[in-house]
Amino acid sequence: MHPSDPSAGHADRSASGAGGPRAADGSPSQGVGKGKLTYGSYLKVPELLSLQVEASSPVHHDELLFIISHQVYELWFKQMLHELHAVCGWLDRDNPSRAAQLLQRVHAIQHLLIEQIPVLETMFSVEFAQFRDHLRPASGFQSVQFRLVEFLCGRKNARMIALVGDDQSAQSIMQRYLDMPAVYDHFMRMLSRLGVAVPRDLLERNVREAYEGDERMVRLLVSVYARRDQGYELFRLCENLVELDERVSLWRFHHVKMVERMIGGMTGTGGSSGAKYLQSTVASRLFPDLWSVRDHLGTAVLG
Ligand code: HEM
Repeated sequence: MHPSDPSAGHADRSASGAGGPRAADGSPSQGVGKGKLTYGSYLKVPELLSLQVEASSPVHHDELLFIISHQVYELWFKQMLHELHAVCGWLDRDNPSRAAQLLQRVHAIQHLLIEQIPVLETMFSVEFAQFRDHLRPASGFQSVQFRLVEFLCGRKNARMIALVGDDQSAQSIMQRYLDMPAVYDHFMRMLSRLGVAVPRDLLERNVREAYEGDERMVRLLVSVYARRDQGYELFRLCENLVELDERVSLWRFHHVKMVERMIGGMTGTGGSSGAKYLQSTVASRLFPDLWSVRDHLGTAVLG
């Protein structure tokens, strides 16, 4: 309805959608009927908003920001797991394009996870110090979903299961993820089905252990890169995996910088050496072969 329309101001029943009467500005002129699905009931907003419970007493102003930041991460970790399982499913169905498309979604989520850090960094370290002691011995170390993402991406470490605390159901889901093939195992198996000569011992490796990389795989992947115009989908997928790996490191880097800014060289609430430990994880690689490929991409190989 144009603002100069003579009928402006009268309810408009012509539009589709919910189908009810509308006010002049296009908004519905009456609420939905009793018992109908609403934004709040569908998304469980009241329940969601009741989940931020501060530990400090008296409550510190910044603790709400601290809680919400972490909760938002956990929601995105849930979505990442959902997408990474689907990526594995597409790889099992020999469909590198669909796997790549979902990896791009994961990259976009990772972008948010990195960009969210400055929001928490608006908290001064002196303010954090006012309520940090209330958080002990809880720690990001115990983020089960973070470990599940790591395990699914191939960073397997059975020792992490004990660190989540005395929570049997968390430990059993972590054990399940430790036992499952990681994204890169699905990737190698797909390559093998597509005719790439992946060595049998790699296809049958112990998936409970982190994959450390293998020179034979690197040589095979060099030819995927060299023949990218004949097999662009596979090449593209490799680059999407590299991007996932790079963004994990970028998050680690930004997280450790935030930690240095907040607590300097103090030990973590979870008992680690703090920033020193976190720094040691920044350079770790999920898909070592795909990084090693780059050592061989000179013109002698690619022509
Ligand atoms: C004031 C902000 C933060 C500080 C000072 C901080 C501090 C730390 C420290 C010291 C550790 C080492 C483990 C320990 O001993 O506790 C750690 C680990 C961790 N933190 Fe944070 N953190 C902060 C915010 C966040 C946020 C927003 C997340 C989002 C989920 C997060 C997730 C994690 C994870 C997943 C680990 C385990 C990393 C690994 O083992 O590789 N942290 N954090």
